[in-house]
Amino acid sequence: MRFESAHGPCNLIPALPGHFVTCSEDLWRPLLLTESSTRMTDKKFELADRDSQRKAELPVRSGTIGPSVVDIASINKDLGVFTFDPGFGVTAATESKITYIDGDEGVLLYRGFPVEQLAGKSSFMEVSYLLLHGELPSAKQLEEFTGNIRHHTMINETLLRFFNGFHHNAHPMAMVSAVIASMSAFYHDTMDIYNPRHREIFAHRIIAKIPTIAAAAHKHSQGQPFIYPRNDLDYCSNMLNMFFAVPCEPYYIDPTTAQALDLLFVLHADHEQNASTSTVRLAGSTGANPYAAISAGVSALWGPAHGGANEAVLAMLEQIGTVDNIPKYLAMAKDKSSHFRLMGFGHRVYKNFDPRAKIIREMCHKILAKLGNSDNPLFELALRLEEIALKDEYFVARKLYPNVDFYSGIIYSAIGIPRSMFTVMFAIARTVGWVAHWQEMISDPGMRIGRPRQLYTGPKRRDYVEMTKRK
Ligand code: CMC
Repeated sequence: MRFESAHGPCNLIPALPGHFVTCSEDLWRPLLLTESSTRMTDKKFELADRDSQRKAELPVRSGTIGPSVVDIASINKDLGVFTFDPGFGVTAATESKITYIDGDEGVLLYRGFPVEQLAGKSSFMEVSYLLLHGELPSAKQLEEFTGNIRHHTMINETLLRFFNGFHHNAHPMAMVSAVIASMSAFYHDTMDIYNPRHREIFAHRIIAKIPTIAAAAHKHSQGQPFIYPRNDLDYCSNMLNMFFAVPCEPYYIDPTTAQALDLLFVLHADHEQNASTSTVRLAGSTGANPYAAISAGVSALWGPAHGGANEAVLAMLEQIGTVDNIPKYLAMAKDKSSHFRLMGFGHRVYKNFDPRAKIIREMCHKILAKLGNSDNPLFELALRLEEIALKDEYFVARKLYPNVDFYSGIIYSAIGIPRSMFTVMFAIARTVGWVAHWQEMISDPGMRIGRPRQLYTGPKRRDYVEMTKRK
């Protein structure tokens, strides 16, 4: 079997169609996710302006599962108003076929498949194929897909030198987002976003190269030489090797650790229209180079309210220190005048439990036992904190439960990954989700630039005042 070239200049793609392309047309055809599945129902809402008696009839669209949405597209034309929904708490900005969440029931489906089933039976590569293509692959399709990812792992040597421009203690998320953004300089003229084949090669490149970029950031922080990718290894084993091997001695890749990472990546692979995915969609909706859009997603993920929570959880557990201190910190989390929040707790969508957190907590027990670290004091503290918080009226009333990030940092830490790299690990896993959403958006013939409205509260029109006349 032949795969795409990992290193050739990609401007040969349009000139020599098929030169790098060995996968069958069938393999990339499903990336054209064009037809809409939303249905206009018979139901209608009516919005009336009591003063003017003007009315707007608002149709209702339904998807396959989940709540229907009221289509407000005509509201400005009919009533002369816009809608106001800070934080997009109740606004669907797009239709999507990729991921479904039922926050009340704690359900997470990738292309219809429950995440618990995928976590138990699948692999990150298979889930990546599923998210991108919409269906589980055949053995041949998976082999071909995995082969394409393996053969794109190297990054341009020039790109590698970018890391020398960063101070050794630069945060790895800053390095990773900057280097991904600069990939657009390497693949710009040859990236036609309307060419499905170009989009597919972009998908393979970014999924394959992000662990290499992450490892380069890690090695730069450690002052160690960069370790080149090994295409004979699976995705997570290769990543562990790039992170932890050194040229002076052999490195044993522990299969249990690689499997644990693979499972964490399955759980983090996509989460519908979260802040970073919406950022990728918004940036990509302008027609920007997709590497730049993914870099925007990495930046959005970094914040502690989103993917940065895994790093913040460990910092918080260390700050709490002992079980005796839990009441003091819970009181701080409840105090509205304090900026302290219980990191790894709460979620915009999950109001019962986060199914990913349940799986990760179980996995935490197993991994720590396997690594001979079952009496890990931070894990003990996290378990006690969860137990106490879940009995507390404040957390019960607001339906605040541990989320995916509450336990993931403890596992990363046990594996030897430094705290500043935790959110990078999240970014590696989430890249496939970002790519799937970007693909879905670009291949939609109805795509429009994302452009929210605002409620203006600044000064009314006023005239310029000459400097000498200003008070
Ligand atoms: N600790 C203390 N109070 C909290 C917390 C928390 N972790 N989370 C929410 N609340 C309170 C909040 O103060 C508010 O109280 P009130 O109604 O009295 O004003 C109420 O719960 C609702 O919170 P919100 O901020 O309106 O909820 P949101 O949907 O806007 O925010 C969140 C969701 C995840 C940003 C928030 O729960 C939070 O900051 N959690 C901690 C950070 C965290 O763990 N983030 C990771 C999310 S999961 C990974 C991912 O997918 O990104």
